[in-house]
Amino acid sequence: MPSTTSPREARAGTAPSAGATAVVGLQWGDEGKGKIVHLMTERHDAVARYNGGANAGHSIVVKGERFALHLIPSGILHAGKPAVIGNGVVIDPDWLSKELDALHARGVDTSGLVISDRAHVVMPWHKAEDELRERWLAEGSLEPIGTTKRGIGPCYADKATRGTAIRMGDLVRPAYLRRRLESICPLKTAMLGSITAKGGQAVRYEAEVLAELASGWGERFGRYLRDTGAMLRGMIHAGKRVLFEGANATLLDVDHGTYPYVTSSSCAVHGVGPGAGVPPAAVGRVIGVVKAYSTRVGGGAMPTELVRTEAERELGAEIRQRGREFGTTTGRPRRVGWLDLVAVRYSAELNGTTGLAVMLLDVLAGVETLRVCVGYREAGGRPAGGFTPDGEWLSGVEAQYVDLKGFSQDVSKARRLSELPGEARAYLDLIERSVGCPIEFVSVGPDREQTIEV
Ligand code: IMP
Repeated sequence: MPSTTSPREARAGTAPSAGATAVVGLQWGDEGKGKIVHLMTERHDAVARYNGGANAGHSIVVKGERFALHLIPSGILHAGKPAVIGNGVVIDPDWLSKELDALHARGVDTSGLVISDRAHVVMPWHKAEDELRERWLAEGSLEPIGTTKRGIGPCYADKATRGTAIRMGDLVRPAYLRRRLESICPLKTAMLGSITAKGGQAVRYEAEVLAELASGWGERFGRYLRDTGAMLRGMIHAGKRVLFEGANATLLDVDHGTYPYVTSSSCAVHGVGPGAGVPPAAVGRVIGVVKAYSTRVGGGAMPTELVRTEAERELGAEIRQRGREFGTTTGRPRRVGWLDLVAVRYSAELNGTTGLAVMLLDVLAGVETLRVCVGYREAGGRPAGGFTPDGEWLSGVEAQYVDLKGFSQDVSKARRLSELPGEARAYLDLIERSVGCPIEFVSVGPDREQTIEV
């Protein structure tokens, strides 16, 4: 029978409306995305993660109560709303169990959780390999990446290698899983044995043991598994609003970050399509989250780091304390620096951000002079044209600053821009002008209420 739908109509039927929003970090992570996602989830019908794994750490304060999430989308704190872990995420089932248990212990309704059956599983050998590789680099002449040791890189590497990977859906196919493990375990035992440091204890992976462990995971998570791509596409085509929650951040993006000091996934908005299984054109709004200063955890250059003088180091330590700049995932102290608008401008342009969320402005209260990096000089004093996403290049540039007068007042009670001191507004104006993107949110404290919506 001839089709009653013309090709033009059929195309219109599959064309996504651009009603989805993405929230991405514009620096090296820990910008405060969790808070913005939590706030924006109220205005969306579902929230989905598309990248990363338990290396991410989002802390959210709801009515004075602090929640730390790693794998589960921050949207889970809105009871019953779909909170999707997309196919682009790598899942450590032990972490996921712990996180779910912790939420249940605090009475959080997690019935909205949905997990992609195609998300990859972080297996015990991935964490072991992550650790061994870092040690190998540290013992040689290369700087280690400074990973979170959560097995992220080795798991994504297996995903690309294919033959030795395991996906969440495999956990509920015991015979298939068993066959795979029988082939993978001896290979992983041999590979890891060969890079185990002298005197170190090589681990032997037994298919039987792993199959039992994995079947326990399957029992626990089977009920959450779905083809989340189909689910999200269905929602988008039905005109529902989906919020995509980026983990890690743009400068840690495997393609567009400060390689090799990056993570292994597509953290920028470009990761939404492959990592969630939706048409990229579905995303019409991109909120770039930027901290009012810079932080970085792990290795790699950071041109504005506060380490050059004793006074800088003291100020860095003070900001670290006030901003609680210790890793949500690893507890590592974060490196602290002045706001780097060269890097932020690059990230904003790369993501096509439609609006900015400036976070932790309150932390800067009392800093007499606020330095903002507005340019770089390369070796020989040449001004750099812009930002090059390359770790080696970045280690050779020198930050150029403009100095602004700081503000001493407590800004945590401001709910409108007009309630901020003039100096704070001048700081925000500089950000907006340099990045060329309007500020939509200013955060002046950890609580949801401590937000200025512009
Ligand atoms: P991995 O993702 O554990 O492989 O770590 C690679 C690099 O990314 C390290 O420098 C980590 O500290 C950094 N990293 C990964 N995830 C985050 C994050 O969510 N916030 C900040 N840094 C991160």
